[in-house]
Amino acid sequence: MLEIIRKRRSIRSYFEKEIEEDKITEILKAAMFSPTARALRPWEFIIVKDSANKKRLSQATPYASFAKNAPIIIIIAYDTDKGNRFKEDCSIAAGHVYLEAVNQDLGTCYIQISDGAEGSKGDPEAYVKEILDIPDHIRVHCLMPLGYPSKHHEPHKDTEFQESKIHYEKY
Ligand SMILES: Cc1cc2nc3c(=O)[nH]c(=O)nc-3n(C[C@H](O)[C@H](O)[C@H](O)COP(=O)(O)O)c2cc1C
Repeated sequence: MLEIIRKRRSIRSYFEKEIEEDKITEILKAAMFSPTARALRPWEFIIVKDSANKKRLSQATPYASFAKNAPIIIIIAYDTDKGNRFKEDCSIAAGHVYLEAVNQDLGTCYIQISDGAEGSKGDPEAYVKEILDIPDHIRVHCLMPLGYPSKHHEPHKDTEFQESKIHYEKY
């Protein structure tokens, strides 16, 4: 498992190669096998392949521009009628998507759309919701473009393990 974790990097450039449907299913299984508060499973996953919509989504913030080049974008959203730990639940699901993507020789990147930044489309979440016809009670957590990585990224190294970050008994 640690080898997959080491290899997991945020991938922002992709080959045009289509992704096999069974790989997408495996990744969505990984997401839906994640823990959720009170086992409420508030997440919803929207798969976008349409080029025009991918292009529009990639304009949500200045840090999403590369998403248009991915064969698909997975949008992780959540149902606000299901509990109140949505961000935690969706973040863990996103972690599973990251790791199963590596396991399938694919790459992804977490794109946040909760904060506007200079160059963002006003409220990025509202912008994404409008593109995808998302109803009021469903909110968007993040975008995760997915594809075969077209560049090599070095795996994480042991030098990133910092003893100084670990506190025993008390801070
Ligand atoms: C909460 C969160 C928000 C992020 N938002 C973005 C984003 O909007 N655009 C982007 O390109 N990367 C985004 N990233 C990816 C980080 O930039 C990346 O994880 C970090 O640089 C470490 O690199 P690594 O994932 O390759 O280890 C985000 C990651 C997290 C966890």
